[in-house]
Amino acid sequence: MRAHRRPAICLYGVKLKPYISLPSLLVVGVALLPPLASPGLAQNDAGPQPSKNVRDSVYSAAQAQRGETAFRQTCTECHTPSQFSGPNFIAAWRGAPLYQLFDLIRTTMPNDFPGSLPAQTYADIVAYILKLNQYPAGQKELAPDPDSLKAIRIEPPRSP
Ligand code: HEC
Repeated sequence: MRAHRRPAICLYGVKLKPYISLPSLLVVGVALLPPLASPGLAQNDAGPQPSKNVRDSVYSAAQAQRGETAFRQTCTECHTPSQFSGPNFIAAWRGAPLYQLFDLIRTTMPNDFPGSLPAQTYADIVAYILKLNQYPAGQKELAPDPDSLKAIRIEPPRSP
């Protein structure tokens, strides 16, 4: 047994050198990795960081229609559609996640009964506001889901 162990230790001692240099190479590699990978990581870690914008067909025409009906029923008592469209409105909201507009309306409107509508209806109204600003409709509806709304940035129309 003893005779067997000694060569084994010796063997380990001989193999030690290459194994020392491998981890140190890895350490150098890991140290270099963050600066190289940070642009990609920033995108992957984005989560709530907007990855699309309101020009990317983020609502459907049928949804905007529902939103218009809800708007007429609930909002026109105090607002006109023109208040939520045009260059001034877009300039005020430019760069914000669409979630911010959704959340403002959901938590403060209608002014006399905040939060009284279903989340879906607030999303429909936001879709209507996008339509008012001539952003393109698509196949998918705008979901009343915070994470997906946070992923959509409000941008000016392509050619103002
Ligand atoms: C009873 C009156 C009333 C009703 C109904 C009402 N609002 Fe308002 N809304 C206000 C008032 C007053 C303000 C401005 C004062 C403030 O910011 O609280 C406002 C502000 C807003 C703003 C912010 C405007 C901006 O440019 O920052 C939005 C967006 C809005 N309302 C959307 C809606 C929507 C959508 C509805 C329907 C679901 C609605 N409001 C219903 C009274 C109302």
